[in-house]
Amino acid sequence: MRLAIISDIHGNFTALQAVLADIKLQKVDDIICLGDIVTLGPQPKEVLHTLKELNCVIIKGNHDAAVVDPELAEEYEITEYLIPDLYWCREQLTKEDLKLIESFKTTHEMVLPNGINVLFFHGSPLSLIDIIQATTEPELLDKFFEGQKATVLIGGHSHIQMYRRYGEKLIINAGSVGNAFKFAYSPGNVPSLLPWAEYTILSQNENTLDVDLRRVYFNTDDLLKLVAESNLPGTSWWLNQYSKES
Ligand SMILES: [Fe+2]
Repeated sequence: MRLAIISDIHGNFTALQAVLADIKLQKVDDIICLGDIVTLGPQPKEVLHTLKELNCVIIKGNHDAAVVDPELAEEYEITEYLIPDLYWCREQLTKEDLKLIESFKTTHEMVLPNGINVLFFHGSPLSLIDIIQATTEPELLDKFFEGQKATVLIGGHSHIQMYRRYGEKLIINAGSVGNAFKFAYSPGNVPSLLPWAEYTILSQNENTLDVDLRRVYFNTDDLLKLVAESNLPGTSWWLNQYSKES
């Protein structure tokens, strides 16, 4: 059983196409998406419609919840300067698109053929906005995973790939397809983007389990050209990314 786990695409269709091309070569059985699919980037419609065609499980991210209910943006921890991008994104989508996003569930459970329980989520099993990092204290992890029978826990949200074993549990962050952060986000400190897409393949074969944290380089010039041609409120931020010097 081979699963490709993609997350935090954020309207970056250029990166998604590159990742889907790589996934095709990897011959997976299924794709699972962990949310934050449409906001921030220049091609929300293309991303949503492609995922719909894939007919894969999609988990709701905090940005997905906020694009459906923009008046609750603060509750979903959308930074104030991103609010215009949220409304721009809504304008690109139809009512049906928003209904589809609203229908995404918040967690997904799966039992692998060898009996291992896997749980998928965006931030934590409890919330779309919890952040799990390599440095998250054990007490918090215990709270997030209390009562969980899953021993493999896979999320997104931090935009930083991670493989962390905690007791009998394996905690994975699939990474961000469209917004791979150079450093962890903290309020007032927006990290710059790395010029590649990240995703993960989980393989279970007989008595082995294997995690492949993959990186796919995509054409950032193509993406920035699309951004420059759009009327996206966050255009100037995007155009400052991927500089060769940084
Ligand atoms: Fe995100």
